[in-house]
Amino acid sequence: MDWGMKNRLSKIIRPETGRTVMLAVDHGYFLGPTTGLEEPGKTVAPLLQYADTLMLTRGVLRACIDPSVNVPIVLRVSGGTSILGNLADEGTTVSMRDALRMNVSGVALSIFVGSDLERKTLLALADLINEAQEYGVPVLAVTAVGKDMVRDARYLGLACRIAAELGAHIVKTYYCDDFEKVIKNCPVPIVIAGGKKIPEREALELSYNAIKRGASGVDMGRNIFQSDHPVAMIRSVREIVHNNMTADKAWDFFNMIVNEKKPAMA
Ligand code: 5RP
Repeated sequence: MDWGMKNRLSKIIRPETGRTVMLAVDHGYFLGPTTGLEEPGKTVAPLLQYADTLMLTRGVLRACIDPSVNVPIVLRVSGGTSILGNLADEGTTVSMRDALRMNVSGVALSIFVGSDLERKTLLALADLINEAQEYGVPVLAVTAVGKDMVRDARYLGLACRIAAELGAHIVKTYYCDDFEKVIKNCPVPIVIAGGKKIPEREALELSYNAIKRGASGVDMGRNIFQSDHPVAMIRSVREIVHNNMTADKAWDFFNMIVNEKKPAMA
């Protein structure tokens, strides 16, 4: 692996712990103005200092993030569909040249294993990896899950393994029962998405269970930015990811931060 690739990878997965807290705010690329991301710049501003990496689209990066900010970027480079259409019908939306111009540390693309467009999305991943290899840019493969797909270890393990076989450097998937099997069968680091907003305590348990079973971190969005206490949430997730904090301790930590911030009673 060349120096540039290793250097970029080390900006995504922290060498000190071998893990990452990736803050995902790319949802608008198919969902439009998602709750919590109406003004992405304002949403992410207080969170950036606790994120190892920020995952977003070119448009939001250019329009909403100050270029002097010190956070490595994982740029979503797939899209072209919306929640109203066939999500699997994505294409590559950003050239490698433009991604490099934005000084990204990695690029991300979704694959839709089991969909009618499986082949197209897998070959798009392979093409992206071929190009990214030329420039030393890591590729994050996002194992997207269609409405009809079961999120179990068999299916997610299949999608993760295929992404890794094609050469993805990191794979994002969902936590599931028997998650350790998904990890064992995938030779590259796996990060988990948080999925739909759930109560904070459950999201912390999800993060803890994933890390305990071998995940290399989280690529989490809604369970952070849709929380009433996003800073407390990302800080607590960070403790789990980098400091092996248990879910119970992280929940206490979350409440401690929330209560610290409450204005004193008159
Ligand atoms: C959308 C994505 C999101 O970045 C991913 O799902 C993580 O966000 P969340 O934790 O909200 O699920 O890739 O396709």
